Amino acid sequence: MFEKIAVVGAGTMGHGIAEVAALNGYVVFLCDISEEILREAIKKIEWSLRKMVEKGKLGNEELTLTLNRIRTTTSLEEAAKDSKLIIEAVPENLELKKGIFSRLDGMTHPETILGTNTSSLPISEIASVTSRPDKVIGIHFFNPPVIMPLVEIVCGDKTSKQTVDSVLTFIKTLGKQFIICRKDVPGFVVNRILEALIQEAAWIVHRGEASMLEVDSAVKYRAKLPMGLFELSDYVGIDVLYSAGKAIQDRDGGVIVSPLFEEYYKNGWYGKKSGKGFYTYTGDLWEKPKIPPELADKVNLEEIFAPAVNAAAWLLRNNVVDKEELDKAVILGLNFPEGILQMADKWGIDTLVQVLKIKRSKYGEYYKPDQLLEEMVANNRLGVKTRRGFYEYV
Ligand code: 3HC
Repeated sequence: MFEKIAVVGAGTMGHGIAEVAALNGYVVFLCDISEEILREAIKKIEWSLRKMVEKGKLGNEELTLTLNRIRTTTSLEEAAKDSKLIIEAVPENLELKKGIFSRLDGMTHPETILGTNTSSLPISEIASVTSRPDKVIGIHFFNPPVIMPLVEIVCGDKTSKQTVDSVLTFIKTLGKQFIICRKDVPGFVVNRILEALIQEAAWIVHRGEASMLEVDSAVKYRAKLPMGLFELSDYVGIDVLYSAGKAIQDRDGGVIVSPLFEEYYKNGWYGKKSGKGFYTYTGDLWEKPKIPPELADKVNLEEIFAPAVNAAAWLLRNNVVDKEELDKAVILGLNFPEGILQMADKWGIDTLVQVLKIKRSKYGEYYKPDQLLEEMVANNRLGVKTRRGFYEYV
């Protein structure tokens, strides 16, 4: 396996990926454009490792050893030298990523695997600027990488089986589980579903159908997601979700970014990291917004989740992933209490299709129910109530 790896980009995801790799014995070169960003990244890694020591998950000696395995540098050449695996985690800008991949291609051993942690940009296009598209692959971690159990592997058009196998072996050494997104579709599996869900929450608030706290309360206390959707947006970064959403929208219209997100993004209200997002923060990394449980009944979950189920149906119908892997993706990548297809079966496919039809008549074609959902209704595969939906029930 790889002894030394490089992580390019020391932001929210990059520092977390470096932390996970170092915790699992890898020497990691963490690279970014300024010493200040790198100092900040090490501070966050240290904070996270100390949290683990406090919780008894890590010893003090291991903390020191882990930190010692992380070297920081502003030189891409230094990071790339002798690394057989490089994971890029720079901001979601296709031209920026292509520039970095082109440089990496010229400065690394021809066998080096070039991975990207992009959340929605096309792997094949990033690979196209290199002389080794077979060794370019999506290695998509979830925030916080140190806690979230999933890594989503995304194949570009030319990614080789050998590259996939090597990366899977690496992922397993990190103690992570994986799903494979078979096609290079916008948003891949998890973010295509997540963006449909989060943007719908924001559309509902924008249209005045419910308040932000009502949506977050319903999602957290009734759907039992670990965080409200606005809380999660602040946590992941409104800038990150805005860019990923826009990339999906521009590529195939799989989501439509809401004006609410646009407004927050343009104002620089990125969430936790900027002190203000949908909630406000004092700077304590451990801080959580207060979401009143008594508001949980003010909005129907089907209204919030129907577009995400539609996105899931699109992924299944297009053979991007199968149903078990799709549900595994949201359980391990987003900490859902159960799969979104299992939830859909409980709500009823006919109910969800009806919700989509009403939204379509009011707000347009984006809400057109996927053909798969329409066929399920026509075939009485309505979910738990008819004992057949995405799954069979006895
Ligand atoms: N470092 C170390 N430990 C951490 C940590 C960190 N960064 N964050 C959380 N923890 C630990 C805590 O110490 C705690 O440990 P314990 O169980 O021993 O007490 C445990 O994790 C749970 O933390 P908390 O009790 O503080 O808080 P929660 O129970 O709310 O869990 C969470 C935090 C795991 C982040 C949970 O809220 C969650 O799962 N949220 C959803 C996260 C999610 O969906 N991520 C994916 C976003 S999409 C994405 O990243 C893709 C990108 O492309 C956009």
